[in-house]
Amino acid sequence: MDVFSLNGKNALIIGGAGGIGGVIARAYRDGGARVAIAGRSLSKMALMADELNPHDPSKAAYVVDARQPSALSKLAATVRSDLGTIDVLVNCQGTTTIKPALEITEDEYDLVADTNLKSVFFACTAFAPHMIAKGSGAIVNIASLAAHSGWSQAASYSASKSGVVSLTQSFAAEWGQDGVRVNAITPGFFMTDLNRSRMSDSRKQRATDRCAMKRMGELCELAGAAVYLASDAAGFVNGSTLRVDGGYLSSGI
Ligand SMILES: NC(=O)c1ccc[n+]([C@@H]2O[C@H](COP(=O)([O-])OP(=O)(O)OC[C@H]3O[C@@H](n4cnc5c(N)ncnc54)[C@H](OP(=O)(O)O)[C@@H]3O)[C@@H](O)[C@H]2O)c1
Repeated sequence: MDVFSLNGKNALIIGGAGGIGGVIARAYRDGGARVAIAGRSLSKMALMADELNPHDPSKAAYVVDARQPSALSKLAATVRSDLGTIDVLVNCQGTTTIKPALEITEDEYDLVADTNLKSVFFACTAFAPHMIAKGSGAIVNIASLAAHSGWSQAASYSASKSGVVSLTQSFAAEWGQDGVRVNAITPGFFMTDLNRSRMSDSRKQRATDRCAMKRMGELCELAGAAVYLASDAAGFVNGSTLRVDGGYLSSGI
């Protein structure tokens, strides 16, 4: 269906060499977009860059530490000069610390808050002006289940993701009149580098037990939501948070 096509769109996925970001990058490419990714490590992005742009991988992967607003401004300028205006920005960078709140140090708190929340604020404000000037654009922020309920041993992560949902709504309210839509996805549990070794077996078990579908998600099950929010099919969808969690948040007792 044409309405889901990403033909002619330029997309940038920050965190695009990660588990979820990689799936989104491939789905956008398959949907017709020209896709680039960004992250801290060029070597980590090399394979994906070759895959996304075999003729010129240097225009498919960009180094950025998204915790630094000045680096994000530089990224926006470089990518615009290389590819043109970015039509779709995905904020898929993230980290976590699973530890009792009473043991979290200031540095550990800042790492999570800066990577997950501050970076989203400044990535959005770095790329939105180009979208506003063009009169169209879509931003997709990857939030988390943890935005919507208490998250024992991950308080800083949970707070940062609540902030992402809040930013999504505020930017949607501010830029909707300029044709820029800002939405979020709330993934449930998907096995990636983020949680593979950080989550204990018992925590993994609880994650599946509490999910209505009694399993973790397959990464490919996130692709449709990300394509939808980036596409014209979601032309009047702005400020929303789309849950892809197997019914986790809908489950009570
Ligand atoms: N997996 C889940 O179950 C789950 C559930 C809900 C939400 N999420 C969210 O989904 C997003 C992607 O996570 P994932 O599960 O795919 O984990 P992942 O595989 O570890 O990917 C995280 C990505 O973030 C990038 N990143 C980290 N710090 C960065 C920084 N300072 N600057 C730029 N990029 C940075 C990493 O690239 P470099 O290390 O190369 O910089 C990596 O590509 C995160 O926001 C996470 O919170 C995941």
